[in-house]
Amino acid sequence: MTRNRLFLFAAASLVAGIMVFSCTSSPRKTTGSDPSLPAYLDGSRPISERVENALSLMTTDEKVALTHAQSKFSSAGVPRLGIPMVWCTDGPHGIRTEVLWDEWDQAGWTCDSCTAYPALTALAASWDPELARLYGVSIGEEARYRGKDVLLGPGVNILRTPLNGRNFEYMGEDPFLSSTMVVPYVQGVQSNNVAACVKHFALNNQETNRFTTNVIVDDRTLYEIYLPAFKAAVQQGGAWAIMGSYNLYKDQWNCHNQYLLNDILKGEWGFDGVVISDWGGVHNTDQAIHNGLDMEYGSWTNGLTMGKTNAYDSYFLADPYKKLLAEGKVGTEELDDKARRVLRLIFRTGMNPDRKFGKFTSPEHSAAARKIGAEGIVLLRNEGGLLPIKADAGKILVVGENAVKMMTVGGGSSSLKAKYEISPLDGIRGAFPSAKVVYERGYVGDASGEYNGVSTGQDLSEKRDAKTLIADACAQAKDADYVIFIGGLNKSDHQDAEGADRTQFGLPYGQDDVIEALSAVAGSKLVVVNISGNPVGMPWSDKVGAILQDWYLGSEAGNSLADVLSGKVNPSGKLPFTIPVELSDGPIRTPEQFPGVNNGKNYEGYPITDETYSEGIYVGYRWFEKKEIKPLFPFGYGLSYTTFEYGEPKLSAKSITKNGHLTVTVPVKNTGSVPGAEVVQLYIKDKECSVDRPVKELKGFSKVYLQPGQSKEVSIDIDSSALSFFDATSHKWVCESGTFTAVIASSSADEKGSVDFDVK
Ligand code: BGC
Repeated sequence: MTRNRLFLFAAASLVAGIMVFSCTSSPRKTTGSDPSLPAYLDGSRPISERVENALSLMTTDEKVALTHAQSKFSSAGVPRLGIPMVWCTDGPHGIRTEVLWDEWDQAGWTCDSCTAYPALTALAASWDPELARLYGVSIGEEARYRGKDVLLGPGVNILRTPLNGRNFEYMGEDPFLSSTMVVPYVQGVQSNNVAACVKHFALNNQETNRFTTNVIVDDRTLYEIYLPAFKAAVQQGGAWAIMGSYNLYKDQWNCHNQYLLNDILKGEWGFDGVVISDWGGVHNTDQAIHNGLDMEYGSWTNGLTMGKTNAYDSYFLADPYKKLLAEGKVGTEELDDKARRVLRLIFRTGMNPDRKFGKFTSPEHSAAARKIGAEGIVLLRNEGGLLPIKADAGKILVVGENAVKMMTVGGGSSSLKAKYEISPLDGIRGAFPSAKVVYERGYVGDASGEYNGVSTGQDLSEKRDAKTLIADACAQAKDADYVIFIGGLNKSDHQDAEGADRTQFGLPYGQDDVIEALSAVAGSKLVVVNISGNPVGMPWSDKVGAILQDWYLGSEAGNSLADVLSGKVNPSGKLPFTIPVELSDGPIRTPEQFPGVNNGKNYEGYPITDETYSEGIYVGYRWFEKKEIKPLFPFGYGLSYTTFEYGEPKLSAKSITKNGHLTVTVPVKNTGSVPGAEVVQLYIKDKECSVDRPVKELKGFSKVYLQPGQSKEVSIDIDSSALSFFDATSHKWVCESGTFTAVIASSSADEKGSVDFDVK
């Protein structure tokens, strides 16, 4: 029996008890309908027809059951009709281990160890939309193989403050970069009949008071900075699901928020997918019914604990909803809309007649993770061409906890049970088989490694004190050809982790002391590898030979890093965020801005904190450029082992109309001796405008791969979306006439050429 025949047969058999039809007719995929099947089972019919047919056969209770969870990560289907359950999984860096029905703890399966992919900051740093597609396809295949219908990711919240513990799950500070990268990720995931659930919608830019922060932001900032990546995911990526965030906006929780969900997402953007609550993000039945939520997950019901069995009937959209319906206090219009959306999700995923089979932990998945990781690493400094490490290196000293610490476990809901994880130290050992690779701990960070019952099993205990650790590392550094310090943050609380923000901008655990000491002994041959999902303070930056911004790179972490250190891969990553000299250089300066202040509000028994985004649109490089503050490393910055020469940028026309478009072209040449890739960036400056605008804004980029001596013409298109600002009064994007400048740059601070054009 073919796969498709089996699907129809199984579904038909389930329905046979209540309906009479033949289950022996030939199954069909998408060619011609089968009159013997009820429409909802006939995959050749349009989804809208299948949805309406299923809906017409369902009871009210069955519809309500679609709208809330039945376990930690699943919701019921319609068993009587053979409509399957919906299974969700985190997301966004790999397929989470199976958990117990009612608990967060892992279920102890032995077949659920996944490929851990690089964190989304790394993907963003690659500035390569095709890698985002590869990422989406790969993780989607793994989700499909594991029987999941919804992947809880990607995350596209904007990096507003470097203290946000979850920035590693997002794509940096710029709306254009995140928008460009999220679209192919979503499309890649969904090509496997798995829904991408884009999160956390919206304004969820910190972990402190994450359930109770009410964001106060003006419309222009909302539309220009915080919404574009979600909009792109929905309108260009065609996302089938979106996750409401924990926080509040306009004094309403975002999982049931009239403005964000009904007015903007479903109204202005025409979203036809499901809104899924963040886990435990629902607080009120009435708002959950009316304000745009479709599926409630993870609620900690009235007085019941997080692990209580069968608490699901008490969910806001379960028995309390049924009661209101039975009493006639609410009608069925909202319920039908929710049920339609959930059915649409099911017909797009689990009951898609062309449903794929998926693949799990294949060599191709490992290769994808390794490639994405290496392409995301950013070379920040390389004095005297210290890197790449020469193949005949004699002694390589590796120092630092992050050289050995497994990072796929921890950090919150994105924690993974990875099939394997290559540590940086192992990666370096593998890449330099003839070198003497010596390891020294250097500092003790967090020796633990456990999350919801998944343990790294590593013993990172250490008896030496901080002074001895530094002395031992320095002693080994004296005769080393290369000293590679591998440190940064980790996935423990108050580092890069969900649930709590960072408490300091500088490196924790006394790492600055270790780096200073090593630089005194071996400055010019010292490479600092910073592993983090956030900008960190680097007061020692001009005392070391080289700096690499590395990320949480997952299963292939060590190989990706070693590929760059050895020169097998020429680094081409560019920073997706600004690294300031000091945290206080950035735009967030008052408690009203972060972490917010209590103005005496109290909703549903929760004290609410107001947080005002008074910096407005001036986030990241927009702030630094406006205030003329020089960052340590600017947005879009990253070096290569080769050099590039830019020619003069040219325009396809001197002016455009408001509905037209034009193309900027610029020749770029690899003038060095090794192949390499350059991210050519296009920023737009509005010369005169009726409103205050950033000095310039990223509006295009293209990554170009060049052999030594090779030259290519890079083209980037501009249309009115690149020139417009959001006018809050008319509630419209406005493109004003006048002169604009197209700036071609290799980073936000390194302009290579510019050309003016007029908008008529
Ligand atoms: C997180 C989500 C996650 C969900 C399920 C929540 O706490 O905020 O990102 O998908 O848990 O694990």
